[in-house]
Amino acid sequence: MYDRILVSTEQLKNTVTVLAEQINETYRNDDNLIAIVILEGAKYFAQDLLSEINVPVKLEYLKASSYYGSTCSTGDVKLEGPDELKAAIRGKQLLIIDDIYDTGLTLTRVLNWCKECKAESIKTCVLLEKEIHHQKQINIDFLGLKIEEAFVIGYGLDFEGRYRELPFVAVLKE
Ligand code: XMP
Repeated sequence: MYDRILVSTEQLKNTVTVLAEQINETYRNDDNLIAIVILEGAKYFAQDLLSEINVPVKLEYLKASSYYGSTCSTGDVKLEGPDELKAAIRGKQLLIIDDIYDTGLTLTRVLNWCKECKAESIKTCVLLEKEIHHQKQINIDFLGLKIEEAFVIGYGLDFEGRYRELPFVAVLKE
């Protein structure tokens, strides 16, 4: 199933705590914050992160899909969210929470969608960034860890819908 553990459970916990501290500090005087969790992969990360957030935050979800069971992005990113979401985020401060910045196609699509919705501000929080040449360059405001180029599983990240429940991040066995 996996070759080796890349990010241990303890490293994940510490990383989440550091990110939560940065987010708490950034939004400490705001009460207009909406966190948009990108499904499915960011669910586990977001749950742990939000449990350490001590500023008022409203939680929303946006489903993004492009991988369809392979280990390469198809490039065609589909977004699905509640119809009311567009109106709800107008004039608000958005924090996009995602699991991994790989090609950058997903986050680019999400960010463009949020901009169309006329949010007041948009920041990104991403657990992992692959150290590769990204097809799309994105500024990540709150970044957890940089990792090597490999297809990873665990802590919400899946291969064909499996391995999300692993309590660490590991490299998928070929
Ligand atoms: P992109 O390439 O658009 O990737 O930046 C964003 C989404 O693709 C999924 N992804 C992965 N999922 N292992 C996974 O299980 C990986 O190594 C991987 N790389 C990308 C993920 O859902 C992410 O949000």
